[in-house]
Parts: sequence; C-alpha cells; structure tokens
Amino acid sequence: MNNFNFYNPVKILFGKGKIAELSKNIPADAKILMTYGGGSIHKNGVYEQVKTALKGFNVVEFGGIEPNPHYETLMKAVEVVKAEKIDFLLAVGGGSVLDGTKFIAAAALYEGESAWDIAAKQLTVSKALPLGAVLTLAATGSEMNSGGVITREATQEKFAFGSPVLFPKFSVLDPQITFSLPQRQVANGIVDAFVHVIEQYLTYPVNSPVQDRFAEGILLTLIEEGPKASTAETPDYETRANLMWAATMALNGLLSTGVKTDWATHMIGHELTALHGIDHAVTLAIVLPGVMRLMKDKRREKLLQYASRVWNITEGTDEQKIETAIQQTESFFRQVGISTLLSEHQVGQDTINQIVERFTQRKMRAVGAQQDVSIADVGELLKTRL
Ligand code: NZQ
Ligand code: ZN
Repeated sequence: MNNFNFYNPVKILFGKGKIAELSKNIPADAKILMTYGGGSIHKNGVYEQVKTALKGFNVVEFGGIEPNPHYETLMKAVEVVKAEKIDFLLAVGGGSVLDGTKFIAAAALYEGESAWDIAAKQLTVSKALPLGAVLTLAATGSEMNSGGVITREATQEKFAFGSPVLFPKFSVLDPQITFSLPQRQVANGIVDAFVHVIEQYLTYPVNSPVQDRFAEGILLTLIEEGPKASTAETPDYETRANLMWAATMALNGLLSTGVKTDWATHMIGHELTALHGIDHAVTLAIVLPGVMRLMKDKRREKLLQYASRVWNITEGTDEQKIETAIQQTESFFRQVGISTLLSEHQVGQDTINQIVERFTQRKMRAVGAQQDVSIADVGELLKTRL
C-alpha cells in the first residue's frame, strides 16, 4: 500500500427529518447565502423545511444554479456575497448546486484577476467562506469531499477544482428528499457513484485489501439496490437510504487512500458534457467500457479481481472473463436506464476529433492519474463507443 494522508472533517447528518438540525450547525450570528438550483426545492417542500429550520437567521437567497453549474452564474452569486457581506453559504441541491457553492466560497475571497483560473489553472485555494449543504440528489459525493466541477458557458469548457478549505462543515442527507427525483436522475446517481468507485479501484494492485473490499462492497450494494430504485413504482426509504450512503462513501476520500486512482473516464466524460450537454453520468457510462477494453492487458490483474468478486465470473479464459465483466458493467448501466453509446446522443466522429484536438492543445500527453491512456488512445477508445 502507498503512503497517504487521510483528512475528512465533514459532519454528516443522515436520516429522516435531519433538516431540522440545521440551526444547531450554523453560527447564530451568521449572514447566510442560501443557494439552490432551478426550482425543484420549491416543488418538493425542501425550501419550506429549510426556511423553517432557519427561522431567526439572517438569510439571503440565490437560486438558478443550473446543472453543470456555469461560471457566469456563479460570479453573479459572488457579487451578492460581497454586496450583502455574506459569511456563510448553505447549498441546497444536487452536485451542481454544491459544486457551484464551493466555487462561490473560493471565488468570493479570491484576490487574483479572474476567478475562472481557480479551475482552469488549478490554482491552490487557501481561503474560502465556510459552507454547509442539504443534499437533494445522491450521486456526486460533493457533500463529503472538497472538490467541484464548473463549466464556462462562453467557451464550453468544464474543469475541476478543489482544496481542503472547501470541505462542507456539514451535510444533511435525508433520503426522503430524493423521492421527488425524476427516474433519469436516480439512474444518473447510481451510475455516477458506480464509476467513482471504479476510478479508484480498477487500476493496479498495491496490496490494499481493505480499500478493495470497501470498493467491492459499494459496487455490490449499487448492483443490488440500483435496479430496485429504478423499477420501483413508489420510492422505498431503505433503498434510497442505502443508495445515498453508497454514493457519499464512493467519493469521500476513503477509497483512494494508498491506492492508484484513475479518473480517465471522468476527464473524457467532462468534454462530452462541455460540448454536448450530455448528463455527467451518461458520459461515464459511454466512456468506461471503452477505457476498460483499452486497458485489458495493462490492468489485467484488477480486471480479473473485479470479474470474480463483483460479477462472480468464474468460467472461461482470462480474456473471456474480462470481456464478460465489461459486458455485465454495460448491461447494468442499461438496466438502470442509462444509455451507453455516443450515437444515442447524435454524437459522431467530429466530436471525437474535437476532443483529441482539445487535449492536444492543452499539451496533455495522457489522461488519468496513471497517465496510461494516451491522447491517441482517447480517440481510439471513443471510436469503439460510437
Ligand atoms: O436545479 P433543480 O431544479 O434543483 O433540479 C435538479 C437538476 O435539474 C434536479 N434535482 C436535484 N434534486 C432533486 C431534483 N429534482 C427533483 N427532486 C430532487 N430532490 O436534478 C437535476 C440534476 O441536478 P445536478 O445537481 O446537476 O445533478 P448531480 O448531483 O448529478 O450533479 C452533477 C454535477 O456534479 C459534478 C458533475 O460534473 C456535474 O456538474 N460532479 C461533481 C463531483 C464532485 N464534486 O466531487 C464529482 C462528480 O464526478 C461530478 O463530476
Ligand atoms: Zn462523477
């Protein structure tokens, strides 16, 4: 196992009715900016629950943060923070609102010329406003990690940023809030969480049985619970609770301790969202099978472990076991309702060329933390996903 530092200070308030505990977790004299998305919280009662819990607090609101949050919108919120002298941010929404709020927290105290550089140039963020979150969509893990991803609409670029100062102080996870999610977003959450685990697991062995079995436990949970949630006529609390906790645990830093991580699928997927607005999880379902096949020799050992322990594949040659595991993975994505091919989104070879060109212009030689997926490979693997 490799050396590591593990730090995660996020307090999790998990379960039914936990929004009511907001007031105990925000300083009484705080001036709060409550951020939210396109309005789902007005329809499902979350807005009222939050406002009731914050009775007596000084709260300013900023709504309209869109999915794949736009830098342009977030900078408007930064102006509000400065004008209103806000000193605490409360994000109420899915990964986009949480990520956007992390960016607002950093950009509000940024002293350089363009806050876009925080993401585009991966600047070190050393100070940020404190933030808390009420999560409404189980998927990204943003509620318990210190990263975010934002999009610049003007240039169709999507970049990640992160800093230990951007961990939420607390996150409220009430699975009941996810009952109002459209099926598409439930499915997105299952697949996003699944691929987060894969990015930290399906690489190279470093003798890390604890991390491997945590990862396999989350994958198996998603495989068991995911189809229940995507087929149920009415949402079941226990299923949603298990999915919510699985998604949080999938990307809170625990799985990546001491192991070799990847993130090639995410880096390629972000380009598909930036250029075509395809849902984040869908981009991952499209790209991942291509990455797995491309890596079938280099990452043979972990792929065989995945085939055996997660899919219980015991028959055939090693080559066949790996291919079956890749097919099972793709079938699982389709089973929960996620498309897995570029052609299903009217995306063709021209976009593949554009992505390769973008990576080349950014002077990237390879993607993924292991740098074992070359830019030429990116073009080749995407061709197999047409
Ligand atoms: O905007 P509203 O009206 O709230 O509607 C949202 C949005 O349209 C809706 N929604 C959320 N909760 C709901 C609900 N609708 C009904 N009932 C509820 N309870 O769902 C739609 C999608 O929301 P969004 O926040 O965009 O989805 P998600 O949580 O999947 O977040 C995706 C973003 O997170 C980034 C992605 O790149 C993408 O920008 N990621 C963040 C990560 C991180 N911070 O660690 C890691 C991930 O890999 C990912 O990159
Ligand atoms: Zn993701």
